[in-house]
Amino acid sequence: MPTSAAEPLLEVRGLTAGYGKIGVLEGIDFRIDAGEIVALLGPNGAGKSTLLKAISGLLPRSGTIRFAGQDISRASPGDTVRAGLVHVVEGHRVFTQLNVIDNLMLAGYGLPRDRLSVQVEEALSFFPEIAEKRNDRAVTLSGGQQQMLAVAQGLVRRPRLLMLDEPSAGLSPVLVDRVLAAAARLRESGTAVLLVEQLIEKALKLADRVYALARGSIVLEARADEADLPNRLERAYFG
Ligand SMILES: Nc1ncnc2c1ncn2[C@@H]1O[C@H](COP(=O)(O)OP(=O)(O)OP(=O)(O)O)[C@@H](O)[C@H]1O
Ligand SMILES: [Mg+2]
Repeated sequence: MPTSAAEPLLEVRGLTAGYGKIGVLEGIDFRIDAGEIVALLGPNGAGKSTLLKAISGLLPRSGTIRFAGQDISRASPGDTVRAGLVHVVEGHRVFTQLNVIDNLMLAGYGLPRDRLSVQVEEALSFFPEIAEKRNDRAVTLSGGQQQMLAVAQGLVRRPRLLMLDEPSAGLSPVLVDRVLAAAARLRESGTAVLLVEQLIEKALKLADRVYALARGSIVLEARADEADLPNRLERAYFG
C-alpha cells in the first residue's frame, strides 16, 4: 500500500516492551520517513536492540506501530518482513556451512525464482569482495566479510526499511566505511535505514536524523547536522 506524503514510513507510538516481567522500553515514540537514514544511539544496555526486536516482531510489545500504511503492531516477524521491513540482528548471523549464494537465496526464501536470482545479484553488487567469494562457504569469510554477507541478506528482499543493529561491530575502519557506504547507496535508491551504531561520529556523518535512547526512553531527537550535537548527546546519555 502506498504511503501518503503526510504519513511517515514507520511510526511508533507508546511502544512498551521487555523480556517477560523485565520492562525495558517505556512509551517510545518515533518515526522514520521514506528514504531517510536515522541513527539510533545510546549507551550499552539502553534498549536499542530491544527496540529493533520489538518493531520487527521478535519480541512481544504494546503500543502502535504503523509501517507503509499498515498497522503492524501485532505482526509476526514473517509479516513485518513481507511488509518490507527487514531487521539485520546484532552479530553477523550467517549459515557458516552454506556458501555465500545459498545464504542469500535462503534470505530471499519465498520470492519467485527469477526475481530471487536478480535480487541476490543486486545485493551482492553492494559488496564486491563477497561477490568474488560467491561459491565459498561462509565459514571461510573473515568477520568483516560475514558482516557484509549479513547486510546483503537483508538487502535481498529490497526492503523499504532496513534496520541494522551495530553492523560495524568488530570491523576494521576500512570495512566499517564499506558497510556504512552501503547504507548511503541504499538511501539513494529510496530505502530507509535505521542504524544502531556505537561509532557516533561515523553515524552522525551518514545519518539525516538521530534519536538517542537511554534507560529505555528516547531522550533526544535531532537533525544529524545540528551544531553541538556531540555535547547534547553526551548529556542525554548520562543526564
Ligand atoms: N534476553 C534478555 N533477557 C532479559 N533481559 C535482557 C535480554 N536482552 C537484553 N536484556 C536487558 O535489556 C536491556 C536492554 O538491552 P539491549 O540489548 O536492548 O540494549 P542495547 O542498547 O542494545 O545495548 P548494547 O549497546 O550493549 O547492544 C538491558 O538491561 C539488558 O540487560
Ligand atoms: Mg544492542
